[in-house]
Amino acid sequence: MLADHRERDADRGTGPRAGRSAQPPGPPGSFLWRILPALKDPLRFLLDLAGTYGDIVTVRANRTYLVNRPDLVKHVLQDNHFNYTKGARYRRALEPFFGRGLLTSEGDLWRRQRRQIQPAFHKHHHQDYAGAIVTTTQEYLATWRRSARTGEPLDVRAAMTDVTLAVLMKTIFGRSAGEDIDAVGRAFLAAHGEMNLTAAFIAPPLPQWVPTPGHRRFTRAIRTIDAFIARLVAERRAEAASGTGAPGLGASGLAAAGTQDFLSLLLAARDPDSGEPMSDTQVRDEVITMLAAGHDTVTEALTWTLYLLAQHPDIAERVRQEVSTVLGSREPRADDLAALPFVGCVVHESMRLYPPIWGLMRTTIAADEIDGYALPPDARVIISPYVVHRSPALWPEPDRFLPDRFAQPQAEGRHRFAYFPFGAGPRLCVGAAFAMLEVPLVTTMLIRAFSIQLVPGQTIRALPGISLRADRPVWVTLREQTQA
Ligand code: HEM
Repeated sequence: MLADHRERDADRGTGPRAGRSAQPPGPPGSFLWRILPALKDPLRFLLDLAGTYGDIVTVRANRTYLVNRPDLVKHVLQDNHFNYTKGARYRRALEPFFGRGLLTSEGDLWRRQRRQIQPAFHKHHHQDYAGAIVTTTQEYLATWRRSARTGEPLDVRAAMTDVTLAVLMKTIFGRSAGEDIDAVGRAFLAAHGEMNLTAAFIAPPLPQWVPTPGHRRFTRAIRTIDAFIARLVAERRAEAASGTGAPGLGASGLAAAGTQDFLSLLLAARDPDSGEPMSDTQVRDEVITMLAAGHDTVTEALTWTLYLLAQHPDIAERVRQEVSTVLGSREPRADDLAALPFVGCVVHESMRLYPPIWGLMRTTIAADEIDGYALPPDARVIISPYVVHRSPALWPEPDRFLPDRFAQPQAEGRHRFAYFPFGAGPRLCVGAAFAMLEVPLVTTMLIRAFSIQLVPGQTIRALPGISLRADRPVWVTLREQTQA
């Protein structure tokens, strides 16, 4: 069990403590033998390791460690981040898809790209982004109303994929979702289905050139996505050359405010040293990173939130009442979210139970010492938000959906690193604030419009792929609410 983090924080020492062995505790026996349950059910495997061996666990001696206690997580991700990279194994698992975009790059390339991309997420864009999110959700509400009227079940994940991709089309490319969105959405699903973070953590992936059916599906999906991005980049360059310019976000006001969409920002960016524009490959890698990192995670966060609300109608009703009191029948804006604290609690509690990014990976550069144990250079450190978020030492009744734990007084004094769905330190999710607009705004609009019931007889499990997704479609039926 994880020890109480407050006590542990207080007694955190600097040198190895008396009686400590060189390696953190871990399961006995051959690593190869133990890897089988890890591959079968990685979440259970990691939870069991934390439950049995505690705060820091040897998964493979001198190679791989699992770190579970908030102050140790802080050490790796934030305090001593200079000594960590994401590492070759992580890059090998993700680069076939993301290339060297912001998520997978390191060092000078990462620093330069982060500096150029960060302004797109500045607070002063929030009202405009919220506008894009709300108008997109309104468009889809009309479709979902038809499902409600006919009683036809709705696949929540597919519905949320449509919304999140359409929102990104507006914010990244400054255009509405066209006919191609279905094909691109399917290609994303297919590519993600073939990628697995477990490969980065526990067992190396097969090289892409091995012609498995999965690799062939992956290659086809990447071709579709690359062709789509290349076409949009070419169109935008042509517009710029002919002086017609970027359309911006139109109705949601970004263009009117003199700000362009993300693609324009990338195309206009210049290297501060050389003055050179970004190469086509770098633009492609950043666009695919934003599309993938920005739609998959938000889709999962929304799907799990709606799944949990469907199972807890009393909590859905509290959300509805808060929304009705604060908004009446008008549409939400970004600055309304501060007045909707219970919606915020619901979203956080959903991401505690089902953090879309379930595992982070770091590799030591030089040797490090964690909790009195010596880790060698080039050692892999796995940090799992899923495991820490379900630690009974940090979260009473950890498997229950109790949104009030994010409200005062229950949240008082909790370690900042007991909950970190967006990571932490310099590699903190660049889109965190964007996500914390989109997930609560879409939830607010959906729960106000409908009550949601799970179609009976479904057993849904969390499947840790590239993100934490439901292992099958989540079918619900919607019933229209009469609005105040
Ligand atoms: C609920 C939604 C989201 C969750 C839970 C989430 C989670 C995360 C986490 C945990 C990381 C850190 C990974 C690490 O340290 O290894 C990360 C990084 C990143 N996220 Fe998100 N994310 C979300 C939404 C978004 C959105 C909306 C975008 C963009 C539109 C985005 C773009 C990125 C990028 C580019 C990085 C890499 C940042 C860097 O290393 O500098 N994410 N995300």
